[in-house]
Amino acid sequence: MLKRFLLPYAAAIIAAAGMSALAPSSARAQDDVAAKALACSTCHGVNGSPLSATFPVIWGQQSNYLYKELHDFHSGDRNNPVMAPLVQSISLDELRAISNYIATKPWPAKPADGGAAAAPPEAIAAKMQVCKSCHQANFEGGAPAPRLAGLSYEYLRGAMNAFAAGKRTNNLDMPGFMKALTVSERDAMAKYIAGL
Ligand code: HEC
Ligand code: HEC
Repeated sequence: MLKRFLLPYAAAIIAAAGMSALAPSSARAQDDVAAKALACSTCHGVNGSPLSATFPVIWGQQSNYLYKELHDFHSGDRNNPVMAPLVQSISLDELRAISNYIATKPWPAKPADGGAAAAPPEAIAAKMQVCKSCHQANFEGGAPAPRLAGLSYEYLRGAMNAFAAGKRTNNLDMPGFMKALTVSERDAMAKYIAGL
């Protein structure tokens, strides 16, 4: 807090002295990003653990994926009544900076009583092989596919059903993969991946 009050003065003094104000102003830009990201914690959590199971974990998610989703909420390609109005007043450059900042935060630790994910039935496990070609072997994600391991069952199930129902259309591949599964297969996969 003190830093935020002092920085403008420090910048003014340095500028007045005819020295480069670059260092303090970039520190201030970083403070601005942190302040904007703080507003996100109302829902996505101050320590990375979301306040509701229907809010996804964003801390430690792939930065390119975070930016793509924020971009899509901004443009309306991904529709959500909560996220869309929140990001519409933020510029794409700022959204990129916020994404990079959030991606460096640690993914929240699994609760101590979380236990190991129960192995899924063989038929489900076989159908999940294809997911791993993009979401990686342990669903830890990798460009361009997001991390899924440890997202909540509710959020995963909701996202998968939204792709299947044609309600989330900001990706060309996912709707087809999800339509090829039954509701109960999607449910079983969501349960398994949430426990990873
Ligand atoms: C009022 C609650 C709320 C606030 C505040 C909020 N979010 Fe969200 N956010 C959500 C919800 C709910 C979703 C899930 C939307 C959906 O189901 O499609 C979401 C989804 C996201 C996603 C997509 C994640 C994924 O896995 O696809 C990103 C990225 C995101 N939010 C970033 C942010 C950022 C950055 C901020 C702050 C600028 C923010 N959110 C503020 C509720 C919130
Ligand atoms: C060809 C690559 C590919 C394959 C195969 C694939 N996915 Fe995806 N998946 C993606 C990409 C890319 C996204 C991000 C879409 C976007 O831009 O919003 C995604 C998004 C998702 C999301 C939403 C994550 C979030 O945070 O909102 C879920 C859930 C998901 N995939 C589950 C699966 C499951 C389960 C399978 C296997 C049955 C699968 N995917 C197969 C590439 C793939």
